[in-house]
Amino acid sequence: MFQNIVRFLAIFFFGFVSSSTFSPARPPSIPLAVRSPYLNTWLAVGGDEATGGHLAERWPRFYTGSINGWVGMIRVDGETYSWMGQPGPDPVTQVSVEYTSTKSVFTMNVNDMVEMRISFLSPIAPDDMKRQSLVFSYLEVEVAAADGSTHDVQLYADISAEWISGDLSALANWDYGAVDDVVYHKIFRQTELKYSESGDKADWGNWYWATGAADGVSYQSGEDNVVRGLFATSGFLESSADDNFRAINAQWPVFAFSHDLGAVGTHSQSVLYSIGLAQTDAIQFNGAGDVRPLKSLWTEYFGNELEALHFFHHDYSTASSMAASLDSKIEEDSISAAGENYMIITTLSTRQSFAATQLVGSLGQPYLFLKEISSNGNTQTVDVIFPAHPIFLYTNPYLLKLLLIPHFENQEAGKYPHDWAIHDLGTHYPNATGHPEGDDEHMPLEECGNMLIMMLAYAQKSGDWDFLADHYEMLVQWAEFLVDESLIPEHQLSTDDFAGKMANQTNLAVKGMIGLEAMSVIASATGHLEDADDYSAIAHDYIDQWLTLGIAHDESPPHTTLGYGLNDTYGLLYNIYEDAALGLDLVPDWVYDMQSSFYPFVEARYGVALDTRHDWTKGRYPTRILKPRLTGMPLARSDWEIFVAAVSSLETRNMLIGDIAKWINETTTDHPLTDLYDSKLGGYPGIMFTARPVMGAAFALLTMEGKAPVLQRQRASAA
Ligand SMILES: *[C@@H]1O[C@H](CO)[C@@H](O)[C@H](O)[C@H]1NC(C)=O
Ligand SMILES: *[C@@H]1O[C@H](CO)[C@@H](O)[C@H](O)[C@H]1NC(C)=O
Ligand SMILES: *[C@@H]1O[C@H](CO)[C@@H](O)[C@H](O)[C@H]1NC(C)=O
Ligand SMILES: *[C@@H]1O[C@H](CO)[C@@H](O)[C@H](O)[C@H]1NC(C)=O
Repeated sequence: MFQNIVRFLAIFFFGFVSSSTFSPARPPSIPLAVRSPYLNTWLAVGGDEATGGHLAERWPRFYTGSINGWVGMIRVDGETYSWMGQPGPDPVTQVSVEYTSTKSVFTMNVNDMVEMRISFLSPIAPDDMKRQSLVFSYLEVEVAAADGSTHDVQLYADISAEWISGDLSALANWDYGAVDDVVYHKIFRQTELKYSESGDKADWGNWYWATGAADGVSYQSGEDNVVRGLFATSGFLESSADDNFRAINAQWPVFAFSHDLGAVGTHSQSVLYSIGLAQTDAIQFNGAGDVRPLKSLWTEYFGNELEALHFFHHDYSTASSMAASLDSKIEEDSISAAGENYMIITTLSTRQSFAATQLVGSLGQPYLFLKEISSNGNTQTVDVIFPAHPIFLYTNPYLLKLLLIPHFENQEAGKYPHDWAIHDLGTHYPNATGHPEGDDEHMPLEECGNMLIMMLAYAQKSGDWDFLADHYEMLVQWAEFLVDESLIPEHQLSTDDFAGKMANQTNLAVKGMIGLEAMSVIASATGHLEDADDYSAIAHDYIDQWLTLGIAHDESPPHTTLGYGLNDTYGLLYNIYEDAALGLDLVPDWVYDMQSSFYPFVEARYGVALDTRHDWTKGRYPTRILKPRLTGMPLARSDWEIFVAAVSSLETRNMLIGDIAKWINETTTDHPLTDLYDSKLGGYPGIMFTARPVMGAAFALLTMEGKAPVLQRQRASAA
């Protein structure tokens, strides 16, 4: 009601309410420059309808929510408007925002005189290690007259030093220069703290904010109000540098460019900017031998960081067309697999999934390192790589190999004391220094299952069975653990660690059994035929028992339980996804049918909650919850829901996909895409589960190749 009155008054007094359209949906947050764990800047949408998703009315923010000062202004016939960043003169009118897998594009109307098209491109090149290794992103601004006449136009854009550290009292240092025809501001911490973070931002490396040298380009560094104020009143900058190096928050130094575009008519003119981070040393790794530094992989392709910057800035047309073909591949494949709603999810998930990773090492031995963004910052977490792995299988399975190699290198060097698979390779990114004392967050059954499953998935997609043969001994060690532990799982954590430990978890047990069947396939493909028979026999014996132990005997429609023997409980049985995806055929078809028919009974507005632990009305374990504020909130995990959708009947699949798309479109949350939310009200549970790579799970349907048993039968009976 109140909102309606405000709207009415606004219409009454101002004639219109600025309201942008969003397509293909209105996401909780729009990716701007989302390219790596440290180049990860977003625009919040959810929450406030009037300003949400309006580029000129909210600050761009790092995924943690801290501001990354990024300001844009445009001067048209002597009047200045802002097009990016919160403060400043009148905002331009935002007409629309559109996102694809690699791009976010804003269309702006400047007082009906000029139209702007502002494109943020974070290129992804899954098959091109040279391009993929660069931690840079593009911003292109196109300007044209909208009213058929010509206008005198100047364009402005700056960044603040907030990008270089989360510690605002840190001293910033900067420089201005040119490499060939690319001019740049270089900004860095006066005292680098290698491999350190503050507020998840990197405390080392050089930031670059660059544009092409041309007539009419001027620059300036200096205090925010001074530099922005000068442009706002005059339309130019002094081409001068502030040499008073100081703290990020001491008269906030900003680094600006202005472009005098002169008379702009209906033919559009464009300005291209590049922004990015150059770190020579990127990761500390405890692999074979001593702990050693790993360099960013781009250092193998370029003599120095200026060459890298120059290459990137001049690569825009190639990068754009490569990105456009990836965009349309993902869009077309998604729509043909499961329709528009599914495409809404996959396209929004792409940048954040890749942006949790970074290519490092040498051409001889590259690695892909991954940060468990937001949930705790661990390095190379196995049960985060696991939900993410479909996006790598889909785009380039070799990337999955590069994620797994560091685990083998560490554990085969005897640097983990337990006989199960390690949880992660370091408590905090970028340190992959392992856990020689075995003090990681133990998820023994989960991670053994994950490693065996992902190894088989990789080999099936790539044909590279040698990789499995090379690590056979380690795989046997993990398989033996599953032989001991997967039928009656001990009191332990599963990947959903926020829910606490539990014994006899039905879904965890079946992962172990699927891991054993996967091991049987690995054994036979690598010539260990006896092992193959043994592991398969055990897996089949276990699954027969599981079919009794794990099914509910209560009044509701039949379904699997959260834990053995626990009537009145359920949990999403997402681990059977791998039985179908790997074509193992271990789990009987009727289990898929049963689960497909059950989920609609527990559907909430925004999906099916993960399990019964978080809902007072159903839960047997309300007190087990780690965070009291979560109590009573039926939590959805969208990554696992997509795994479930991939092996459900058409109706249940479309229900789950539709619920997640609806949540994306409606949630009041303004965090980067989260994979954990309130399935009834759509809100944010208050713990950080945002911008996580686990949303790579969105691609689960695209790596199935028609293997879901329920769907196969539905298709067969329709034919
Ligand atoms: C990584 O390890 C170094 C010591 O080698 C330490 O100074 C740094 O703070 C660690 N980084 C993080 C993010 O914990
Ligand atoms: C786990 O399930 C087995 C088989 O039903 C049962 O014997 C055992 O007591 C259960 N363990 C716990 C801790 O509930
Ligand atoms: C579960 O429900 C079945 C059928 O109502 C009942 O026979 C059984 O005793 C219940 N088990 C437990 C542990 O409550
Ligand atoms: C998103 O919301 C808009 C406006 O309410 C609506 O037109 C559109 O159909 C919705 N899309 C989805 C996927 O829910």
